[in-house]
Amino acid sequence: MNHWTLAESPSAEKLTPYDLRCEHLATPSGIGVPVPRLSWRLASDRRGDAPTGHRVKVHNGDVLAWDSGWIDGQDVSVDYGGAPLTSFTRYTWQVEVRDGESAQSWFDTGVLHPDEWAAAWIAHDPETEPPFEPPKDDREPRTIRTSSLPAPRYFRRIVDLRPATAVRIACTARGLYELRVNGHRVGDGELTPGWTDYRQRVPYQVYDVTDLVGDGPLCVGAVLADGWWSGSLGWDGRQQAQRYGKTPQLLLQLVAEHADGSRTVIGTDGRWRETTGPLRYADLLMGESYDARLEHDGWDLPGFDDSTWAPARVADTDHSVLVPSVAEPVRVTQDLMPVETIARDGRTIVDLGQNIAGRIRLTLRGAEPGARVTLRHGEMLTADGDLYTENLRSAEATDHYVAAGLPEETFEPRFTVHGFRYVEVSGHADFDVVGRAMHSDTPVAGEFSSSDAMVNQLMSNIRWSQRDNFVSVPTDCPQRDERLGWTADAQVFLPTACYNADVAAFFTGWLADLRCAQDAVGGAVPDVVPHVMTERNGAPGWADAATVVPWHLYQVYGDERVLRDSLPSMRRWVDHVERHNPDLIWRNKVGSHYGDWLQAGVTTSREVMATAYFALSADLTAKAAQVLGDPSYERYAGLRTRIGEAFVREFVSSDGRITGDTQTAYLLALAHGLLPDDLVPAAVAHLVSDLERRGRRLTTGFAGVALLGPVLSAHGHADLAYALLHDDRYPSWGYSIKRGATTIWERWDGWTEESGFGPVAMNSFNHYTLGSVGAWLYGGVAGLGQEEGSVGYRRPLIRPLVGGMLRWASAAYETPLGRLASRWELDGGMLRLEVQIPPGAQATVHVPTTDPASVRESGTPVDQVCRVGSGSYSFTSAWG
Ligand code: BGC
Repeated sequence: MNHWTLAESPSAEKLTPYDLRCEHLATPSGIGVPVPRLSWRLASDRRGDAPTGHRVKVHNGDVLAWDSGWIDGQDVSVDYGGAPLTSFTRYTWQVEVRDGESAQSWFDTGVLHPDEWAAAWIAHDPETEPPFEPPKDDREPRTIRTSSLPAPRYFRRIVDLRPATAVRIACTARGLYELRVNGHRVGDGELTPGWTDYRQRVPYQVYDVTDLVGDGPLCVGAVLADGWWSGSLGWDGRQQAQRYGKTPQLLLQLVAEHADGSRTVIGTDGRWRETTGPLRYADLLMGESYDARLEHDGWDLPGFDDSTWAPARVADTDHSVLVPSVAEPVRVTQDLMPVETIARDGRTIVDLGQNIAGRIRLTLRGAEPGARVTLRHGEMLTADGDLYTENLRSAEATDHYVAAGLPEETFEPRFTVHGFRYVEVSGHADFDVVGRAMHSDTPVAGEFSSSDAMVNQLMSNIRWSQRDNFVSVPTDCPQRDERLGWTADAQVFLPTACYNADVAAFFTGWLADLRCAQDAVGGAVPDVVPHVMTERNGAPGWADAATVVPWHLYQVYGDERVLRDSLPSMRRWVDHVERHNPDLIWRNKVGSHYGDWLQAGVTTSREVMATAYFALSADLTAKAAQVLGDPSYERYAGLRTRIGEAFVREFVSSDGRITGDTQTAYLLALAHGLLPDDLVPAAVAHLVSDLERRGRRLTTGFAGVALLGPVLSAHGHADLAYALLHDDRYPSWGYSIKRGATTIWERWDGWTEESGFGPVAMNSFNHYTLGSVGAWLYGGVAGLGQEEGSVGYRRPLIRPLVGGMLRWASAAYETPLGRLASRWELDGGMLRLEVQIPPGAQATVHVPTTDPASVRESGTPVDQVCRVGSGSYSFTSAWG
């Protein structure tokens, strides 16, 4: 199974809507906003096709809830404008495009009015706990560290329902839950309800369980584990445990609809019963322990005797924190079969051939009852072929299974996630394993490939690191005791992330948490979101995610609402920096200033980096205000100008040198337009000479790395950008690939020939930030971009960079309008360029050539830079 690939480009004779979305999600359940946005993409094979109007109809069953009538224009989205929506209802909707086709989709509503909640938070009551007596066995599977972990709880209730036409359940937990109805697992989401700033937002999911409900009584069950709520979190995992609460809590509301239109509503309350079971502990960082001998057969079916179970305790009735889930859930998206199995002293190390975030499905054959199997996970092997786990720090990443003794039995942990390529199995020799990759299931939006195997591996590594780290929130790494939503990592990688996947919904949710995390009075933004470290606030380049992320999402997806929601937060952030730095050089209130984190062998001036980010944040805030027609535009535009002047005064000498003289300093200043025009050539020359002097080696860290490709190629040095791309000496992307990397390493020196493994205190082999070069592969090498000022790819700019060792490069990308693609190939002295432009877009194509007079489109002479509407075009030109 692998459903994380880009779908074929739809082919259509006339304008055809596809990929229908509601609030950026495909067929979502639990829509909780009164005015959802409906959107679609368009395909058409006809050149120059552009929509002129659309009509949307929304139905609740047979009842028409809204007919938009014909709306003129080229929009590919509309805000619902019909009768007020009803909670827990399926709405089908149809979009018809004038002179084109129509398409259908649906969305389900969740709880639209807070007073409709009729469920309590329920939890295990320690007072009623029957003493737990584990089977007598001295081979206790828990290790010392995990021995004190609490056992997950099993909850159930029998409900007698009148015959119903539809049954839905809204469910969430403070903790993690798995929902079961009449013996079946409900939904395919993992680690639900996901991680948010639980102090202010606990998301709930809505499931349609109509098909699982028969005529008799109904059994609703749930398993509840600690997760982010009360389990290990961040570094010093166990010490950070119980950050939000001491024990998990469940909240669930069932709504049955009857033929006469009436509804029955049943919520969690003190009538639920609960106990422990085969899951002995489950922890995101430590792993999971399961004793199959303790299973309660049929516990999630109506006939089960739960008289020994205890009544659940009503812990709380606060509904104010409940919010609809706004992003795709985590799902298992791919199964990986082992590529190699290595036997070692009674243990077996299995290599999946790919570093993933996820878990193992283990199938045992012929295990004795009580046989204990241990699964340890790691990203690398040591020099002598053993599992390397030092870099996991305190994360044990170990699962235990105690066999029931069946001829064949299967174990798959469900409330933990590991970052690993290798799994070590011990305790039983006859087994199979399958690696199960899981992550937030953001729809694939793009693909890139080229004639160079190493560049293709780099893109594969980038995509995997994105998948492995987008686990409910954008994390830094999936393996060690950290896995936090580091703000710089997220903002630096965002442009690449947007090309690979549709992350509109994913980042909309994360931004909501960023706003929760922002200091309400001062305006500082923390280093990690959700906010779990108290004192760390406002680091340059980290906290600036508050401006960079909303602005970039707006540019890519064209949804102004992200700016509307974020502008107050953007302003507060910029005001905070200004307030503490009246001379506009950002020196004060720098939080735990990390500088150009993990730069290679140089030190970029922290003030230079900070002030460049201050200018960027002021600029983006001004732009956002301008888009929204907000009067604060003038103030932030003025501030941006003054910061620019201060930057030049403080850091730039008359020969264009910037304090510190590092690659990142020049990259930041050039990328963010901080230099007067007359000093730009000199600054470029300094950047280039630094690279040349070092034998074309980069020194950049987190802040500079993404800018190398774009800045060098924008200033006529694509050859240098290509040299860095193809390099495989230390430090370079190629260096890790030569060592067999299947994901992006955290640090350039994660492993070196001289020193072996890098510092164990911080050495993840799955960190996406240095993979931020991905955006340049799509936008530079393959040339899929948009013009300055264009939003939502209305005016694509196709400007491929022919060069390096590439003979061809190809990329396709689902813009909000539809498919944008380019493919170039060198053929003798000829260049062939195929492009595809979505309906409604007006593109500018720069055909690379060494002779502008040679450019042809389908055989007809055209300008080297030409404007084209939608459709497919085939250019040729002379090259060389
Ligand atoms: C994380 C980074 C993060 C950094 C802050 C590290 O531990 O893994 O990716 O941005 O701390 O300096």
